[in-house]
Amino acid sequence: MDDLKFNKFAAGLLCGGLLIMAGIKGAEILLPHHTLEQNAYPIEVADTAGAVTEAAEAPSGPEPILAMLETADLAAGEKISQKCSACHSFNDGGKNKVGPNLWNIVNAGQGQVSGFAYSAALAGLGGQWSYAELNGFLHKPKTWVEGTKMNYNGLKKPKDRADLIAWLRSLSVSPAPLPTAEEIASEAAQ
Ligand code: HEC
Repeated sequence: MDDLKFNKFAAGLLCGGLLIMAGIKGAEILLPHHTLEQNAYPIEVADTAGAVTEAAEAPSGPEPILAMLETADLAAGEKISQKCSACHSFNDGGKNKVGPNLWNIVNAGQGQVSGFAYSAALAGLGGQWSYAELNGFLHKPKTWVEGTKMNYNGLKKPKDRADLIAWLRSLSVSPAPLPTAEEIASEAAQ
């Protein structure tokens, strides 16, 4: 190869190289390869299905507490009762205040404390203050008994309700029996 031929050959290589580099740059400009922040063609999926599952999974009622009653902390329950004592007395023969006296309330008839003027909603319940009813009412009074005049938001924490209800149970000459294993199991299955 003489010098001239070699120069042509080298120039050819150089041009080729430059062309390839230009090609790559061009391709980069035309086809940016950084990751897209979101799908370039977003696929619309109606999220009603998600909403339905969420609603079904959200706890709709009060969490179970029956299993917690036996080992509940009565002292903690008594402390929580301070949230109620502006409106309720708890001692035997205690006065009705804004709300009725709550001595011996576990398993007592609903709306039955003598001398207290209940709302029509509560007076019309006609059931008993079972553990389950107390759990539901104390969780969200106004949802559990729509139209009640008990102006209280409720106790969100299951342990607080269990401690308080266990303490309420102790306010009796003969406390209501603790829930049986069957009752605990059927409450958990609900
Ligand atoms: C702001 C006042 C107020 C507070 C606070 C309050 N209550 Fe009441 N409570 C009432 C009133 C009023 C009623 C009667 C509701 C009705 O007639 O609808 C009532 C009714 C009840 C009943 C039904 C009694 C029955 O004889 O049927 C229970 C049980 C009860 N309250 C428990 C509690 C507990 C436990 C707390 C505390 C965690 C509490 N309440 C906090 C005012 C209150």
